Amino acid sequence: MTAGDLPFPHRHLLGIEGLLPEEISLLLDRSETYVEQNRQADKKKSVLRGRTIINLFFEASTRTRISFELAGKRLGGDVINISVAFSSIKKGETLIDTAMTLNAMHPDVLVVRHPDSGAVKLLSEKVNCAVINGGDGSHEHPTQALLDALTIRRRKGRISGLLVAICGDILHSRVARSNIHLLNTMGARVRLIAPRTLIPEDVERLGVEVFHDMNKGLADCDIVMMLRLQSERMRGSFFPSIREYFRFFGLDYEKLANAKDDALILHPGPMNRGVEIDSVVADDFGRSAIGEQVEMGVAVRMACLEILTRNLTEQERRNL
Ligand code: NCD
Repeated sequence: MTAGDLPFPHRHLLGIEGLLPEEISLLLDRSETYVEQNRQADKKKSVLRGRTIINLFFEASTRTRISFELAGKRLGGDVINISVAFSSIKKGETLIDTAMTLNAMHPDVLVVRHPDSGAVKLLSEKVNCAVINGGDGSHEHPTQALLDALTIRRRKGRISGLLVAICGDILHSRVARSNIHLLNTMGARVRLIAPRTLIPEDVERLGVEVFHDMNKGLADCDIVMMLRLQSERMRGSFFPSIREYFRFFGLDYEKLANAKDDALILHPGPMNRGVEIDSVVADDFGRSAIGEQVEMGVAVRMACLEILTRNLTEQERRNL
């Protein structure tokens, strides 16, 4: 069997860009099995028995790192978390040298988060194992888009034909980029709503509509996806004050009233209450699926780990 015959013919998961609709559907369908499994008392399977997964996170993370760890453990794999603060990177070792060192220990999957766009791809070219991008700079965060898609598909029964608004700091957001690719590929319509300073130039070429007014942009939307202001990536000042930002771009009931009555609210977390979202709206469990997104995250990461390790051939393993 060659890679071309596999239903998911990719060694790594570096981004959503370039994936086919059937490849995305395969990952989502497989995730459904794990949603059910994760709701049982016995959550453990042995799909990854004997496999090693290393989580290498160069940036802060709660949800993504823990859910990859849980995903690996629930599938029976051995999971190791490397905290950069206590690693040789602090002693001046380069990203590539760290990757080569880890590679020599024969991991099966490396999950990497890095502040620089492109760093995870570079690393994937130097190792023999599968690499999953856990977020690289403002580039991509593929498992976040997949978990958002799973949440939407379960709540709305489909993705195709839905009108989705992604709101806030689009410029610095890898979540926005991965979601734009996924939603377009799966046939949804995407709107971006943000101040002019927080939208990348010529973003329309990605097949989205751009709005600078929440009330107009939210009109008739099925899904409202809110984003955090990524201040750690900002060089300079992008808006006058938090108070003004919330007034014009923070999601409250008044702005939400423009969307469909059953519009679903998503947020990848971590949330900044009172900045991009009103606390009451965030906690409105009828409208907001923020907790569900976290649940879906574990299932999606289980599916990704399973499918990528299945793809590694014996030949590749021996070349380690
Ligand atoms: C996102 C990220 O790290 O890009 N968070 C996450 O993975 N749940 C979004 C963010 O940090 O705002």
